[in-house]
Amino acid sequence: MDYFNYRNDELFAEEVPVTQIAKQYGTPCYVYSRAALERRWRAFDGAFGDHPHLICYAVKANSNIALLNLLARLGSGFDIVSLGEMQRAIAAGGAPEKIVFSGVGKREDEIIAGLKAGIRCFNIEVAGELDRIDRLAGQLGVIAPVSFRVNPNVDANTHPYISTGLKENKFGIAFEQALSEYRRAAQMPNIRIIGIDCHIGSQLTDNRPFLDALDRLLELVTALQAEGIELHHLDLGGGLGIRYKDEQPPEPADYIHAILQRLGNSDLEILLEPGRAIVGNAGILVTRIEYLKTTEHKNFAIVDAAMNDLIRPSLYSAWQNIIPVQTNSRADERTWDVVGPVCETGDFLGKGRPLRLCENDLLAIRSSGAYGFTMSSNYNSRPRAAEVLVDNDAAHLIRERESIEQLWTGERLIP
Ligand code: LLP
Repeated sequence: MDYFNYRNDELFAEEVPVTQIAKQYGTPCYVYSRAALERRWRAFDGAFGDHPHLICYAVKANSNIALLNLLARLGSGFDIVSLGEMQRAIAAGGAPEKIVFSGVGKREDEIIAGLKAGIRCFNIEVAGELDRIDRLAGQLGVIAPVSFRVNPNVDANTHPYISTGLKENKFGIAFEQALSEYRRAAQMPNIRIIGIDCHIGSQLTDNRPFLDALDRLLELVTALQAEGIELHHLDLGGGLGIRYKDEQPPEPADYIHAILQRLGNSDLEILLEPGRAIVGNAGILVTRIEYLKTTEHKNFAIVDAAMNDLIRPSLYSAWQNIIPVQTNSRADERTWDVVGPVCETGDFLGKGRPLRLCENDLLAIRSSGAYGFTMSSNYNSRPRAAEVLVDNDAAHLIRERESIEQLWTGERLIP
């Protein structure tokens, strides 16, 4: 079920007409549905039944503290990749003991902050990181809980920019080196080995690569056991895809049942780090048409959102559905390239879309809840969009549109 539906020719977010949100908060504007967000988180959490597990929502997908807070209230953990994400998760009410820290380049100050906060686990990605964490934990007089992010060398069959589990990718410890790194860690005075993890890529639409990665990790778990190194959890990362167009990704429950089946009677706690699958289809980007430009070759709908607001189409050639907010247009259907005002030919939100459009109409770009706002920028000195969270019949502003003055906050003239 979807929480963005038409009623009498008008698009609603839950019980609120999208036109009303645009009128009140302006455009471009991200609109999220609380019900959609919570339903997806529960789909992950519920599918585990009694099996020990923790859903660590990947903060990078959408890090607005209102969303993080709703997930924290459900009991979610968080997967973070920076100090900023850690502080956001904690500011939003997230429990440090449910935070896992991923990322290839953890700085000293980030590790220290994580140790002081008492996070649940550092997912180590480089041999040098293990030494650094051991040393810093020693200085602080604490024991650091760690896991190794192992690169299982499986092909996720996804876009090369978001495929991370191949041996040529920068992420994780090579499968062949993992055993020796675990042995090294087991000797370290300030390290407690608690888990193993991987993350093979994003927007996967098939269980198979996940299960292949799981098999490889389980091989290592067995090898470690034989050496007396017992693990407490196995973290399979994020990556479950969503439907943007006609993809048919597994439902969270199917994915999790397949994992549990592979696990057999192992009592390893399973951690997952889903981002997109929780928030992707819980958000839309609402934009207004400024001008229609028809030429001999092309028809352009020039809208007030641009690649700085939503970069996925430009960066990954990602296809996201673009739909009218009101469907009673009397205009003829034509094929449109929906483009933004940014001075780049690559600034488009969708190409070749059959739509009935008039100037000033509102459009909604669907599936924009994940990697939308978080990847937005100020390019062309465009203030970042407002964010609104709909909860049943109430629309809450959860991030103000940036002001023009904010654009140069922190900048200085020289004498
Ligand atoms: N865990 C780790 C270690 C990750 O690197 C990622 C995503 C996730 C979890 C969450 O993955 P998800 O469940 O959202 O697929 N900007 C790209 C996606 C980049 C994903 C990066 N890592 C996009 O817009 O498609």
